[in-house]
Amino acid sequence: MQILKTKNDLQKIQGDTKLAFVPTMGALHEGHLSLVKIAQSYAKKVIVSIFVNPTQFGPNEDLSKYPRTIEDDIKKLESLNVDFLFLPDASELYPQGLEITHFANKELSEALCGLNRPGHFDGVCTVVYKLFDLIKPDYAIFGQKDYQQLLIIKDMVKTEQIMLEIIEAEIFREADGLAMSSRNIYLSPEQRLIAPKLNKALKSVAQGKQSIDEAKLDLISLGFELDYLETRRNRVFVAAKLGSTRLIDNISLSAMIPLLNN
Ligand code: PAJ
Repeated sequence: MQILKTKNDLQKIQGDTKLAFVPTMGALHEGHLSLVKIAQSYAKKVIVSIFVNPTQFGPNEDLSKYPRTIEDDIKKLESLNVDFLFLPDASELYPQGLEITHFANKELSEALCGLNRPGHFDGVCTVVYKLFDLIKPDYAIFGQKDYQQLLIIKDMVKTEQIMLEIIEAEIFREADGLAMSSRNIYLSPEQRLIAPKLNKALKSVAQGKQSIDEAKLDLISLGFELDYLETRRNRVFVAAKLGSTRLIDNISLSAMIPLLNN
């Protein structure tokens, strides 16, 4: 795997072969790796980026303690035969300082995570735009785990007329249903046992076994500090904190219809 650090390095790899891109913030887990495998099914060459983007973290969020496991990440990507890793310094992506240059669609960004994380999606749009502009991929793969992010990026690609195709990846889960996340390593062993209840709550709402309010009360009694649990666009979305760890998940209502018919 070739490790690229600069715009110049990137220019050298741009050619005739189709390129599929997986943007990440590192601390790679099976969820990220499932995106890599999808990328490999779309294009001959795959590039992954690892960059912990400062502009998408709020002042009281976990930027400084966001997990950084670069050696392990490189090993995981090499074991999958990834072609390129883009590992830029902040000065490469933000030569003029940490300025926001792209804003998320208001309608999409004001609800759900946007409410408690003001400016977060503007930071995401800013860095993703810069990455697309530098890398110029044919495909970019995003996980449904961050469903709101996925919709916002799709909207940006459309309005900015960026020439690439966004591919959606399903949520990759632990055996007990917990959606894989770089932040799961913050959970204490006790919290790790409670965390899958978030996905259970989504399922029971989607299957009509519990109302939103009942599921909320259950989660609160388990020790979750609830940010939101709500239905939108045929999906149920949840965000909640366990201790200081913020977890998110979502589930499609239509995926639950076969279960409802049983
Ligand atoms: P990060 O949280 O590292 O996630 C990178 C990509 O992996 C995102 O598209 C995310 O949705 C996907 N992903 C994470 N966990 C997943 C899971 N369990 N199943 C499927 N996909 C999963 O999202 C970001 O980084 C950043 O906001 C980024 C887009 C890189 C911009 O900085």
